[in-house]
Order: sequence, then C-alpha cells, then structure tokens
Amino acid sequence: MDINEFAAVGTEAAKQAGQYALDRLRTDFSVEHKGTINLVTEVDIAAEEMIVTRLQERFPDHSILAEEKNNETRGGACTWVIDPLDGTTNYAHGFPFFSVSIGLEISGKVLLGIVYDPVRDELFTARKGSGAFCNNEPLHVSKTESLNAGLLATGFPYDIRTSEQNNLKNFCAFALRCQGVRRTGSAALDLCYVAAGRIDGFWESKLNPWDCAAGYLLVSEAGGLVTDYIGGSASIYKAEVVASNGRIHKEMLDVIKTVGSR
Ligand code: IPD
Ligand code: CA
Ligand code: CA
Repeated sequence: MDINEFAAVGTEAAKQAGQYALDRLRTDFSVEHKGTINLVTEVDIAAEEMIVTRLQERFPDHSILAEEKNNETRGGACTWVIDPLDGTTNYAHGFPFFSVSIGLEISGKVLLGIVYDPVRDELFTARKGSGAFCNNEPLHVSKTESLNAGLLATGFPYDIRTSEQNNLKNFCAFALRCQGVRRTGSAALDLCYVAAGRIDGFWESKLNPWDCAAGYLLVSEAGGLVTDYIGGSASIYKAEVVASNGRIHKEMLDVIKTVGSR
C-alpha cells in the first residue's frame, strides 16, 4: 500500500479529466436526459472512462464506484469513488463552475480526497491525518462565529419537482438567518470552499457518494465539522450532510431541526 502513489495517480487522473472537460466546454457535445432535469453529457462519460482506465491500469485489484457507468459496486479493500464531472447542469449550459472529484476509500474509510477545478486551476487535496491543501497551500476553515455572519452553500436534488424532501423549506429558513446562500451547482466544490474558508457552511440531502467522498475529508482535514442533519457521524453513504467551520454548526443543525429536515 503506497498512499503517495495512490495520491499521485489520482491527481494525474483528476487533472487529465478536468483539462479535457475544460477543453470541451462550450463545444458541440451531446447531452442526454437521465431524468427530467438530470443531464449527462458525452464529456461526463468520456471523462469517467479516462479516469477509470488510468486507475485500473495502475491498480488492477482496486474497486471503482463512479457515477456514470460504474456505479453498482460498493466495497472492496480499496475503492475509488469518482465523480468525473460534478456540476453537469452548469457544464451543459456553458456556466464555468464544475469539478472532478476522486476519493479513495480503504477498508471503509476515505483516506484520500482530490477535487480539481480546471477553470481556476485549483487542485484541492487531503489525506486523512495530514491536512487539506489547495495547490499545495494548507487550507483552514473560516473563523466566522455566528450563522448571522455566515455565507452558506447548498444544492437541490434532481427530484425537486416531485419530492417534498426537496430542500426548499430549509433553503428559505437559512436564507433568512445568514448573510447569503449560494447554489453553485457543484457540491464537491462547495465542500472545498468550506475547507478553504470561502464559505462558512454547507448542507444538502440526497447526495451520492461520488459527490462528497473527497469533499468531506477536505472539510474535516481543514479543521471543519461534517455530520448528518442531527449531529451524528457523517458518511458518504448517508443521505444528509451539514459541513461547516464547526463554530456555526450547532446553529445550522438547529435551523434544520426547526424546519423538520426538508
Ligand atoms: C450535482 C451537483 C449539485 C448538487 C447535486 C449533485 P452532478 O452533481 O453536485 O451541486 O446539488 O445534488 O447531484 O449531477 O452535477 O454530478
Ligand atoms: Ca455530482
Ligand atoms: Ca457528475
């Protein structure tokens, strides 16, 4: 087991796929619907193939859990958890905010997280117990003490039109309690921005493991707190998350409790 080698190969894969997505931004690529508003482009699929091929060549005994074509496996001693393009709706519209997210789970724990934003050429990395970094500079969560002074981010699930658990009630409640709520369209980058102290907190439900495997580690390694909606331990396989600088965490949980998790 060589975590340095895993990190190096994972980083190469994320950068290659991110550069590819950037090169193809606003070009003529095909877009299909996975659901009413859930899109997938040929770039998502090609980026995934690029990452998976590279990882499988180097680590043939590792498992892959990736959003588009490899999303059925779970488990194995070493599992790469991959979102080849986080922010597909943005991407399909030519809105330049998206990322590649790669986490490595070893014996049930995410030990490595890599998120690459090719638009800003920002590489976010974390290793369990060794801190979080952006382009090799250490990251720290913000020092904002109260929700009232906080900037938050969130997102909405693809079943927003048909499910009552669509986050709109939480969104309204938080919008009235903090300085602003951003809906950036890339949960992986939202989490990196919490780690970097650019936003103070993030919450969302119905995320998939590939959206958050790298991001949760980034936040905790940058000194933040990641839990479920009731303050219990977070998991990339749990539906709900609150990630914050720690200082405003209880206030965020209280808002969600008052609303009733919706
Ligand atoms: C989505 C983005 C978005 C979040 C959605 C995710 P995708 O991922 O992370 O910010 O709100 O829940 O599904 O579909 O662009 O990879
Ligand atoms: Ca995603
Ligand atoms: Ca995706």
